[in-house]
Amino acid sequence: MRRHAIAVLPGDGVGPEVTRAALTVLDAAESRFDFTTGRTEVPLGADHYLERGELLTEGTVEQLRAHDAILFGAIGSPRVTPGVLERGIILALRRAMEQAINLRPVRLYPGVPTPIAGLTPERCDLVVVRENTEGAYVAQGSSVHVGTPAQVAVQESVNTWYAVERAVDFAYRLAAVRRGRLTLCHKTNVLVEAGKLWTAVMESVGERFPDVETDYVHVDAMCMHLPVSPERFDVVVTDNLFGDIVTDLGAVLQGGLGVAASGNLNIAGNGTSMFEPIHGSAPDIAGRGWANPAGACLSLAMMLGHLGEGEAAAGVEAATTAVLAGLPALAGEGMGASTQELGERIAGLLADGSAPPVEGSLMSQLTQVMAR
Ligand code: NAI
Ligand code: MG
Repeated sequence: MRRHAIAVLPGDGVGPEVTRAALTVLDAAESRFDFTTGRTEVPLGADHYLERGELLTEGTVEQLRAHDAILFGAIGSPRVTPGVLERGIILALRRAMEQAINLRPVRLYPGVPTPIAGLTPERCDLVVVRENTEGAYVAQGSSVHVGTPAQVAVQESVNTWYAVERAVDFAYRLAAVRRGRLTLCHKTNVLVEAGKLWTAVMESVGERFPDVETDYVHVDAMCMHLPVSPERFDVVVTDNLFGDIVTDLGAVLQGGLGVAASGNLNIAGNGTSMFEPIHGSAPDIAGRGWANPAGACLSLAMMLGHLGEGEAAAGVEAATTAVLAGLPALAGEGMGASTQELGERIAGLLADGSAPPVEGSLMSQLTQVMAR
């Protein structure tokens, strides 16, 4: 029987709630699709930090490295200075594990309410490939004259051919198994130096993908096109900062933060990939059972694709989206069932195979380029 070693990092707030629901779904996936997982729970987050003063240590990195994938909930707490846990754990993990690609699908599944008037599932099916290791997020810069009216802050954006090329190459490969369209999203008219590098990489890598059609959109224009005409896009490749911003807008199109999933992929084979809903720890609703577990379950589906369990990935996608489509609201009391009850409902559909397969399954496409 196939066996996968998974590290589980539930984290803070609603993180443990949605992760528990996702693990219930994983139990059902294992029985239905004949594989098993060994699961190690790793207690990173606010409690661990406040008790021990520890963020991501070398020891934890080595422990995680010995696993086939990481399932992550969310991190962040009002009890800790903003940024300490987020930088010290999430960004540190992405860097330590060389998770070069942040993969964020923006797909509106049938029956899921969207705040964008008139938007239909046929018009909203794109994937954002975000470079995940550099740009403005390298934490390089300096300040002088701090605390005086002459204070100067320099915050640098780093763009290497190496990192941009691996993001762009991945994006081309994904476009090739989808609708064959790749859009570069940047701000080449103002960030001229970085823009030249990204454009040159697009052209260079594109020589190997003559069948993929490319275009270019400025990031500000992207914020206008995304809600109005998302059908323009198939795969979008972009830098770390722009990707962070446009994918929150993307999450809105697909029904909100509770629904959106992501993967942080190591594609060099020298580190462990990590899968997480894109929402945070939601302290405003934590402890009430009001968090939607769909984002966590779709992240689980992406993880299964990465582990080579393509059928299970598509199965979890079908069951999750079937349950989503029947919900009276996507968050809060109005969902009509708690986080864990929804996890059990998804697991139930998966176990009896009664959810209709998703047409043009996103997880099947992703599995083709994501499998380890
Ligand atoms: P958030 O994503 O936690 O919450 C934003 C809003 O979305 C809140 O109203 C929340 O109730 C709602 N929401 C979030 N997840 C939901 C779900 N599953 N179902 C239904 N509604 C949901 O972002 P916020 O409030 O800005 O940040 C809270 C904490 O999380 C902060 O410490 C922040 O730094 C951290 N954070 C962590 C992330 C991670 O672990 N990857 C990502 C984003 C934020
Ligand atoms: Mg973000």
